[in-house]
Amino acid sequence: MRHPESPESDPTDPVNFDEVFAELPLLHPTPRSWAELAAARLPEFLADHAICEQQVAMYALSLAGYYPDDAELVERAAALAAEEVQHFRRVVAILRKRGWPLGARRKNVWAQSLRARIVLGREPWTKVDRLLFGAMIEARSCERFTRLLEVVGDPEVAHLLADLGPAERRHWKLFYRLASRDTDEEALAARFREWRELEAELARGLGISPAVHG
Ligand SMILES: [Fe+2]
Ligand SMILES: [Fe+2]
Repeated sequence: MRHPESPESDPTDPVNFDEVFAELPLLHPTPRSWAELAAARLPEFLADHAICEQQVAMYALSLAGYYPDDAELVERAAALAAEEVQHFRRVVAILRKRGWPLGARRKNVWAQSLRARIVLGREPWTKVDRLLFGAMIEARSCERFTRLLEVVGDPEVAHLLADLGPAERRHWKLFYRLASRDTDEEALAARFREWRELEAELARGLGISPAVHG
């Protein structure tokens, strides 16, 4: 059995994309052709991946800044940020060892389009939106890592993906649970459905660049 959070996770364990996908809140699966593209262009994929980890760490910390009175959120967001920083460091270490550039911040149209849907100034729903946005980021990242793990031949990158996929799966659930504290279940599910549909609409036009969300 794989121990997802340990460095001993075995990337040769068969990964069943369909099983992982079925448990994610996603409505559109990434085509396998995206994974083949990313596997063929690992320097670009990893440089982008590093930035994604950095961005999600900063986003988690920003949540603690928006809601300083929510002790549970502050604690969870800080712990999540620390974990994402570890992910960032792992990716950076691989890039550095190989002499591959980290690269600068780049436009992530998918994430920007999603984030623009957060409706400001109507708490508690703004907080819910911010958390559901986080849930979508984590869920799609988990899905992409799982997709790539199916085809990647590079053992070091396979290890990385085998560890990070399950971590991001845990994270989307955490974001969703945090969102569920201030709302009733049905209203939350309805709002999340809107997020999921929007995300799927965006994702349908993607899968064409070697970026994590490209
Ligand atoms: Fe991460
Ligand atoms: Fe994450």
